Amino acid sequence: MARTILEVKDVHIHFGGLKAIDGCSFHVEEGAITALIGPNGAGKSTMVNVISGTYQPDEGSIVFDDADITKLPNYVRAQRGLIRTFQISREFANLTVLENLLVVRLGQSGEKLFNAIFKAKKSREETNALVAEANDILNTFGLYRLRNDYAGNLSGGQKRLLELARAVMAKPKLMLLDEPMAGVTPALIERLGEHLVELNRSYGMTFLLVEHNLEVVEKICSRVVVMATGKQLAEGTLAELRSNPAVIEAYLGGGARERVGG
Ligand SMILES: Nc1ncnc2c1ncn2[C@@H]1O[C@H](COP(=O)(O)OP(=O)(O)OP(=O)(O)O)[C@@H](O)[C@H]1O
Ligand SMILES: [Mg+2]
Repeated sequence: MARTILEVKDVHIHFGGLKAIDGCSFHVEEGAITALIGPNGAGKSTMVNVISGTYQPDEGSIVFDDADITKLPNYVRAQRGLIRTFQISREFANLTVLENLLVVRLGQSGEKLFNAIFKAKKSREETNALVAEANDILNTFGLYRLRNDYAGNLSGGQKRLLELARAVMAKPKLMLLDEPMAGVTPALIERLGEHLVELNRSYGMTFLLVEHNLEVVEKICSRVVVMATGKQLAEGTLAELRSNPAVIEAYLGGGARERVGG
């Protein structure tokens, strides 16, 4: 049995009179790519916000890496390895692709980057190791040949890849992704999916992926958690869930834009 890296326990949160999350519990296994799916308005993005620390739940708790993090601010969660892509700041257009990765780890603003790398505290060996690591990640994402280009000159798709590469550079224990495939071309969806699998296999990286595209979910996620009306409705493999009457009802009865029937 894999270790549990994240446990969501009976979380409640309301916005005015609306119970966006209404007693939701589930867990994420270390080393797995877990999908969080459900009809529109089920509470998935709200849940990601609660897990990352953007929202404070009214009730319930979040346990990450064996510690109760419910009251911790989001930057402390990020320091502990719970990373959401947009917690990594937007790319610096005036830095190169490689430098964009280096800043993540140096924890410096763009202007201070050069001082940090070339003048100060870090020894040459440390710097070389960091550059080697960054190059390795860029290679994984097919961005190595662009490493000396300014990030501002990348295409939209390449920026999406860079965003993920930068998140990987932060060495997350768990990466939260809320619809990373939304608004990208089918070819890039295919590539992003392959990259996630590669990161999972090569680095043992754990993901919780909110995704509407069930083909992607079927291809890359070993376990699926279904949310509906603010609750955990079911969990299992997508194949199991496709024959679960409660799941079919939640999707077909809710007027969702997606269908579980394969
Ligand atoms: N900041 C907010 N203020 C008020 N209501 C909100 C807020 N955020 C979300 N909601 C409401 O909470 C419910 C859950 O929304 P949420 O965005 O979490 O759903 P979702 O599962 O991510 O949906 P989708 O698949 O469309 O992205 C919805 O009814 C939504 O309108
Ligand atoms: Mg959402």
